[in-house]
Amino acid sequence: MNRFLASRLTFVRFKSKPTKDSKKYVHGVLDDTFAVKKRLNMYKSRAAFKLEEIDQKFHIFSKDTRHIVDLGYAPGAWSQYAVKRLNELGLKSVSERDKTIKKDKQFLILGVDLNTQATPVKGCYYLTGNVMSQTTHLRVKDFFRRRGHFGGPIYDEDKELDLVMSDMMVDCVGNSEADHLGNMELCEAALYLAYEQLKPNRDIVLKVWSGSELSKFENKMKILFKNVYAFKPKASKDKSSELYFIGKKKFDIYEKGISIKDVFGS
Ligand SMILES: C[S@@+](CC[C@H](N)C(=O)[O-])C[C@H]1O[C@@H](n2cnc3c(N)ncnc32)[C@H](O)[C@@H]1O
Repeated sequence: MNRFLASRLTFVRFKSKPTKDSKKYVHGVLDDTFAVKKRLNMYKSRAAFKLEEIDQKFHIFSKDTRHIVDLGYAPGAWSQYAVKRLNELGLKSVSERDKTIKKDKQFLILGVDLNTQATPVKGCYYLTGNVMSQTTHLRVKDFFRRRGHFGGPIYDEDKELDLVMSDMMVDCVGNSEADHLGNMELCEAALYLAYEQLKPNRDIVLKVWSGSELSKFENKMKILFKNVYAFKPKASKDKSSELYFIGKKKFDIYEKGISIKDVFGS
C-alpha cells in the first residue's frame, strides 16, 4: 500500500471511533486508489463506468448492436467500453480490416465531438463536428451509408443505427438553469438524430439534466420509444444534476405515422 495512503487510513482509523463520515472517507479513498484506479487504467475517463452500469442494468449492447454513434465522444471512454463489450460478445471492429471475420460479426462505431484534438480509440472512427448542426447529422448518415453495408438486412438507407449514445455536455456557465437549458438543447439534437437515423426497435442512451424542461423532454422520448427509463449511475456524483435517460425499442415511425412535429412540435 502506498505510504501516504497508509498514513491517511491509520489517521482515520485511530484518531477517533469511526463515524459515518470517516467510514465513507475510507471507502472513498479505497475506491479511488485500488479497484477504480486499476480499472481506470483501462479507460480514458471514469465516464466508462457510468456506461458500464447502464449496460449492466438495461442491456444496451447485444450481438445485433453493430452500428453505433457516440455523440460527445471525447476523450473516448464510452467508445472504449463499447468496443470492449462488443468484443466480449464475439464481434470485431470493421476497422480491423480482418477478412476472416464474417460480415455479420463486425461492428462500426463513430464518435462525434466538437473537440478538434480528439483521436479515435482503437476500434472506432472519429468525426469532429457540432451535433447542433444539420451538416453533422448528414455526415453521420453518409458515414454509415458508405461504410456500414457490410452485411445484414438494410432496413432503410436513412436508418442505419442500432444505438445512439450521447454523453454531451455544454461548458457550464455556473447558472444552473442556463446550464440545464443548454444541455437540454444537446439532448434534443441527439433525439432528433435518433428520430431520423435509428432503426426501429433500437435504443438510445443519453445524458440529461434535472431542471424545468426535463419532464417535457421525457414526454418527447415517450412518443418515440416504447420504454423510457431514468437512471442515475453510482459512478455519477451525487451532487451533479446529471442523470441518464434510456429509451428502449424505438417505434417504427413509418408504421405508426409518427412525424417530426409529433415529437418536437412545430
Ligand atoms: C462529458 S464529455 C464526454 C465524455 C465521453 N463520453 C467519454 O466517455 O470520454 C462531454 C463532451 O461533449 C462534447 N460536446 C458538447 N457540446 C457538443 C456539441 N454541440 N457537439 C458535439 N459534442 C459536444 C464536449 O466537447 C465534450 O467532449
